[in-house]
Amino acid sequence: MDHATVVVSGTKIADEIGTGRSEVWRLVQQLRGLGVEIAGHPATGYQLKAVPDLLLPDMLAPALKGTIFGADVHRNYHHYYKIGSTNVEAMESAAAGASEGSVFVAEEQTAGRGRGVHQWDSAPSAGIYCSVVLRPALPPSEALVLSLAAGLAVHSAVQQIDSGISPDLKWPNDLLVGGKKFCGILTEMNAEATRVRHLVVGIGINVNQATFPAELQPIATSLRLASGTEWSRMELCAALLKSLDHEYRDLLEKPGAHESVLQRFQKRSTSAQGRRVQVEENGGFEGVTEGLDSRGFLQVRAAGRLRTVLSGTVRLK
Ligand code: BTN
Repeated sequence: MDHATVVVSGTKIADEIGTGRSEVWRLVQQLRGLGVEIAGHPATGYQLKAVPDLLLPDMLAPALKGTIFGADVHRNYHHYYKIGSTNVEAMESAAAGASEGSVFVAEEQTAGRGRGVHQWDSAPSAGIYCSVVLRPALPPSEALVLSLAAGLAVHSAVQQIDSGISPDLKWPNDLLVGGKKFCGILTEMNAEATRVRHLVVGIGINVNQATFPAELQPIATSLRLASGTEWSRMELCAALLKSLDHEYRDLLEKPGAHESVLQRFQKRSTSAQGRRVQVEENGGFEGVTEGLDSRGFLQVRAAGRLRTVLSGTVRLK
């Protein structure tokens, strides 16, 4: 990185790492496959052009100091080039004893999970696919507010980096820009009736996608498409984990934090109040939103009756 413009011969690299030129070629090909831009070939030497924006622990560790995610980065921060689902991995690891604050981040997911039956499109190194393990001393009924707080953390992280982007929160866990979704959150938990054993908050953010599969194009966007510029995933991921740490600690420690989450969520959502929606629940019904109740559930007035949405499948009309 310090000598990004220098051309280094394959022989010199081979000598330095104690191998042969053909092994250097193999390693260079492997790095290219991971997105590292390297010009040249064995005859002319190699030149490092650009290092990709990978979410590696060493890059994030300094920013995570002092947060629950920075306690022991080398043990608790798990980075994958390719995995099925970071949520599945985090849930399994939590069941096997992974500590609170463990982070599972992937460059690509082959079976990214969305809410309900949905999948999460997880193109390589374009988005942030991140799951964190939490062990809050809270009843399971607080998981919804914690999940709403995660949405606020994404909102804040995006605004810290580009205050020109103003995400719109859609209950319970979507973030939209220009009416299209760029972030989804899947919170899963293992709990007793009165006590959460562990909880995994999985966050998927479309960051630098330039395009989406045809079926997603009408509903999905990325921060790059919304802002017109490429984003540093590393910077956004660091801001996200710091904001999440802040929201989480407040919920555990600060009186009034629960109410603050509900208030701020409603303030940053154009659809939580006074918006016509279709609710896919109890055979489906249509009505107008009337804010969140004290537990964080969406209320909808339908045919003169105030109804509470429990399942979370709400379509904006
Ligand atoms: C949704 O809107 O349906 C929720 C999407 C959640 C996607 C994230 S990506 C990281 C984590 N791992 C998963 O398999 N899912 C979540």
